[in-house]
Amino acid sequence: MPEPSADPRADSGGICIIGASGALGFGLALRLGLAGTPVTIGSRAAERGEETAHRAKELVPSGSFQGYDNVTAVGTSEVVVLSVPYRNQSETLGILRHALRPGQLVIDATVPLAAAVGGRATRMLGVWQGSAAQQTGEMVPKGVGVVSALHTVSASALTDLAQGLEEDVLLCGDERAEKQRAAQVIERIAGLRCIDCGRLEMARITESLTALLISVNARHKTHAGIKLTRVPDEQWE
Ligand SMILES: NC(=O)c1ccc[n+]([C@@H]2O[C@H](COP(=O)([O-])OP(=O)(O)OC[C@H]3O[C@@H](n4cnc5c(N)ncnc54)[C@H](OP(=O)(O)O)[C@@H]3O)[C@@H](O)[C@H]2O)c1
Repeated sequence: MPEPSADPRADSGGICIIGASGALGFGLALRLGLAGTPVTIGSRAAERGEETAHRAKELVPSGSFQGYDNVTAVGTSEVVVLSVPYRNQSETLGILRHALRPGQLVIDATVPLAAAVGGRATRMLGVWQGSAAQQTGEMVPKGVGVVSALHTVSASALTDLAQGLEEDVLLCGDERAEKQRAAQVIERIAGLRCIDCGRLEMARITESLTALLISVNARHKTHAGIKLTRVPDEQWE
């Protein structure tokens, strides 16, 4: 068994990833750890969080990884990535609601795929708020920022550390400063460029691109990403 993680009350100055025992969150944890960012892994079960941190450390020995239960993990970082299946999004946020505090930023990667209710992964569910990210926006406490991101980044590509990433990350959010803050974190991963795609309501489009890429991947046996052309590189100055 891995050693228990260190004092969770100290702000690691890094990133918390809720759901990092899963595909996307684990890939993000590895890449951010490789980039020198301390990563806190949140799980519904503290032991799974610790095991995941241990697994990440084995793959990226230079990285700093700690694992906790979700509520404890959220307390360690100013920036929290939400990477759970859509069917568990509101349940997870309901639990985290009291742990999140004003000034924190949630980067929401949730995609409301029809697969969440037994439908096809190439179809989307209708979300009353407009998108999963807008649902998150409704559920977080006042003063917590929400930026929608990462829907077109493949978990497999992230996790395969031998693979170079050369792609864009589409960001939606109502505050430019919050998108800038999210970009500062995500762009620590070599090869990812963040593009400001507008307000949070645009997330209904960016989330649905996952369904498109799943369809592309099935046909071409790949893990496709997205790259926009003729967009200036200097997005965040
Ligand atoms: N996979 C991709 O390539 C990709 C790309 C872009 C966006 N996304 C989106 O990102 C989110 C995460 O995707 P994923 O593929 O990483 O998902 P996943 O592997 O199925 O699950 C991620 C984590 O969610 C947590 N979770 C919370 N409640 C759960 C429940 N009731 N049942 C199962 N797991 C639960 C689990 O962590 P604990 O058990 O440790 O709590 C699990 O490891 C999804 O909304 C997905 O659509 C995925």
